[in-house]
Amino acid sequence: MDKLHIRGGQTLGGVLKVSGAKNAALPILAATLLTGEKTNIHNLPHLHDITTMMELLGCLGAGLTVDERLSIEIDGSSVTKLVAPYELVKTMRASILVLGPLLARFGAAEVSFPGGCAIGSRPVDLHLKGLEAMGASIAIEGGFIKATCPGGLRGAEITMETVTVGGTENLLMAATLASGRTTIRNAAREPEVVDLAQCLIAMGAKISGAGTSTIEIDGVPALSGADYTVMPDRIEAGTYLVAVAATGGKLRLEGAVPHHLDIVLDKLKESGASITTGANWIELDMEGRRPRAVGITTAPYPGFPTDMQAQFTALNTVAEGVGRVTETVFENRLIQTHEMNRMGADILIEGNTAIVTGRDKLTGAPVMASDLRASASLVIAGLVAGGETLVDRIYHIDRGYECIEEKLQQLGADIRRLPS
Ligand code: UD1
Repeated sequence: MDKLHIRGGQTLGGVLKVSGAKNAALPILAATLLTGEKTNIHNLPHLHDITTMMELLGCLGAGLTVDERLSIEIDGSSVTKLVAPYELVKTMRASILVLGPLLARFGAAEVSFPGGCAIGSRPVDLHLKGLEAMGASIAIEGGFIKATCPGGLRGAEITMETVTVGGTENLLMAATLASGRTTIRNAAREPEVVDLAQCLIAMGAKISGAGTSTIEIDGVPALSGADYTVMPDRIEAGTYLVAVAATGGKLRLEGAVPHHLDIVLDKLKESGASITTGANWIELDMEGRRPRAVGITTAPYPGFPTDMQAQFTALNTVAEGVGRVTETVFENRLIQTHEMNRMGADILIEGNTAIVTGRDKLTGAPVMASDLRASASLVIAGLVAGGETLVDRIYHIDRGYECIEEKLQQLGADIRRLPS
């Protein structure tokens, strides 16, 4: 297994281009199953999860043509298999996103039941309830979710019990081909949901309200192919901003959408960064200052993103003062704090809150990555620590960060990959 070797202590600075958003690309790739025509998707990030989704589309029968810049043409006319196998679903929970599109277009689908993961149990009950409300029959057999709707899906009024990004996306995709109108209330408002909706609209879907908590979809008999460019990755952007801020440095991010990061930028300002933004760029300058600790509580968008929680926890470990970090979206998502304490951080866990008392310095240590964002936070901790840090199990990082060590090297970090 590859490891990342980091010699910390450098002040980072420079210019980076933000990659396409993993969490928008995954549902958009799944959405191509809704049409028998060819769809072209651009700005896909070069990531393991994207390869897994492409593998899944291929295994369902879709024709895939990838160019060297990772634009991909998906031909949905050859899709004949309707089963998402265990081997793929177990490596990527987002595989559940093919359920809605397959069911809506073919009237049947089988998806291996996604298990728990490092950051909690992560059920899919709300995806299934929503599809049942649209007329699907669902059974769990042999570890598979088996869904059918021989007469096609029909529009429904659905109120989501909890705000779920994947649940909203699955139902949104399914509803595009259902007969009549579907209303999704308490829908997720994440920019990735809006990006998916825009792609579906480009394919001929009739959707209004994406980005608000009520989405209305008027089903159409068929969708067509389209040409669509995936939005920039706000979590990747936020991660590099925090990494540079933690080292007291300066960063210009190109190809970022500042308003997707409103609350993250506010927290960075609170920690002492000067932030300037333009239509598609963000600049952060810490002017060599040590960050001040910030308090955060995660919540669905436009609240503070759970996917940025671990990185801010890392920032707080070397900040001035005490920061309280409360995780409300996922259980068990403060696990990286134990590894940080091994590097000399002072983090106390009380329920779902981490109380982080900033230290002057961390010390490098061998640490183990446990999930995607936790891994990124350990890299940040390694960058600010004195001495050497070895981050093990970085396949988690490769699922979500394109060429992380190259991008950090570009900013002056002493980081390299040690192949297994
Ligand atoms: C997506 C993101 C992930 C991010 C998360 C929250 C992708 C591929 N992943 O994950 O990076 O951390 O949103 O912003 O886009 N829940 C239920 N029942 C369900 C579905 C969800 O109880 O049927 C709960 C979950 O356990 C969790 C909460 O709802 O507590 C939010 O989860 P959800 O928004 O669905 O996360 P994902 O879509 O899996």
